[in-house]
Amino acid sequence: MRVRVHEDPAAAAAEAAEVLARRLADRPEAVLGLATGGTMEPLYEDLIGRYKRGDLSFAKATTFNLDEYVGLAPDHPQSYRRYMEEHLFRHVDIDPARTHVPRGDLPPEEAAEAYETDLARLGPVDVQLLGLGRNGHIGFNEPTSSLASRTREKALTASTLRANSRFFGEGETQPTTAITMGIATIMEARHILVLAVGAKKAEAVVNMIEGPVAAMCPASILQHHPSVMVILDTEAACLL
Ligand code: GLP
Repeated sequence: MRVRVHEDPAAAAAEAAEVLARRLADRPEAVLGLATGGTMEPLYEDLIGRYKRGDLSFAKATTFNLDEYVGLAPDHPQSYRRYMEEHLFRHVDIDPARTHVPRGDLPPEEAAEAYETDLARLGPVDVQLLGLGRNGHIGFNEPTSSLASRTREKALTASTLRANSRFFGEGETQPTTAITMGIATIMEARHILVLAVGAKKAEAVVNMIEGPVAAMCPASILQHHPSVMVILDTEAACLL
């Protein structure tokens, strides 16, 4: 694992954007694994800026997102498909047919199987972007997830539901399960790029990098991946 620590979250996001932009410049038809969450917003803003300046094109790229809430249709305001449309896809020249987000509105087993089939056909993912849950989850692979898991439905833990409740307004029902790429699915990416910022991630960061490889911290399995870059700010790195 290569670990890079930046003074502030903006610099961390900018370096992660630089890694993805470089990959796309070298390989315009790259398959990018994308993530959602607050941490990724400045990164996507940075990529949109590069596209608008004419420095970057997504025209030949393919994308696969990590996860989606079960029960939310693609156009639901809180769906991860909608997040991707709003934070990246609608602002750049990506071909909508080449963007993949698991379907939250299909029976989960059907959606998961279709996703794995698409990944097998179009993959492997060149660079998989990952955020980190406060409990060490990657995608929605919560603690105790099998390290051999594939795309499937997962129940969300109370702490994840609490952490993500900030995105749901009053009267909006927050789903309690999600479809997520499995840990083994994620590990098939050629390169992995983890972005984590803020003190709330510090414990998950130290468990990921220095802890034992254990299902209680799903991100710790990344220690077994041959090409991982972890980009942090000083707060997220403070326990290392
Ligand atoms: C969510 C997503 C993850 C994301 C994580 C961190 O639960 N499923 O893919 O990495 O939480 O989110 P945030 O960046 O908002 O802290």
